[in-house]
Amino acid sequence: MTPSASPARFIALIPAAGGGSRAGLDLPKQYADLAGRSMLDRTLDAFRASPLIDATYVVLAPDDRRFDLATEEVRPLYVGGASRRDSVLAGLDAIAAVHAPTDWVLVHDAARPGLTPALIADLIDACRDDAVGGLLALPLADTLKRARGDADSARVAATLPRDGLWAAQTPQMFRLDLLRRAYAAAPEATDEAGAIEALGLAPRLVPGSQRNFKLTWREDFNLARHLFSQP
Ligand code: CTP
Ligand code: MG
Repeated sequence: MTPSASPARFIALIPAAGGGSRAGLDLPKQYADLAGRSMLDRTLDAFRASPLIDATYVVLAPDDRRFDLATEEVRPLYVGGASRRDSVLAGLDAIAAVHAPTDWVLVHDAARPGLTPALIADLIDACRDDAVGGLLALPLADTLKRARGDADSARVAATLPRDGLWAAQTPQMFRLDLLRRAYAAAPEATDEAGAIEALGLAPRLVPGSQRNFKLTWREDFNLARHLFSQP
């Protein structure tokens, strides 16, 4: 690094503009209570506590009236769209005016409150010198079955080899400019890595943790409440 080169900066972008339809709660799931505080508040804890993160942005629905967690370090962007990809891309576009194209962006689902500062550090350590970037993920432990029939009458059609299969988590970490270009060219992408892969690049897989699971169904919230009730 030349003396004039500025050090790498790490920015968090938290998509929190979804409706949480599969959870079937009476409010968007990012505002669900987890042992006294909202899921979104708990998700932000890891970023507030990480010494590596320079700024954290939360992407909210334009009509969100519940968010009350803004501070100097946690900044709302009311630019959420119809899909996760649209929300993330709108957030990236919004921060591009104030952050360098080479800054790293860690995109993390509001629906994964189990993230820790140690996991953030693992991801950054593994990727900060990488030409592409990467994501937290877990090698699959369960045997995989392909089903036939509807969900309520499903039967096993085949057992699939799980060799080399990983389940993607977040954060997913890429440079701001590369990620914007990748998402702009990938309207169907469901995660950052998918958009980067569509450019022919291979993101790095960094071992995550079971505690960083995504809360999707109603039952997941009971599990998370249990996790956060422990002293
Ligand atoms: N998300 C978003 N904008 C959308 C859809 C999703 O910012 N239009 C966010 C969610 O708020 C969540 C993350 O992306 O933090 C992962 O999405 P998911 O778990 O699917 O949440 P929802 O889309 O809200 O839930 P569902 O798919 O069950 O409706
Ligand atoms: Mg969704």
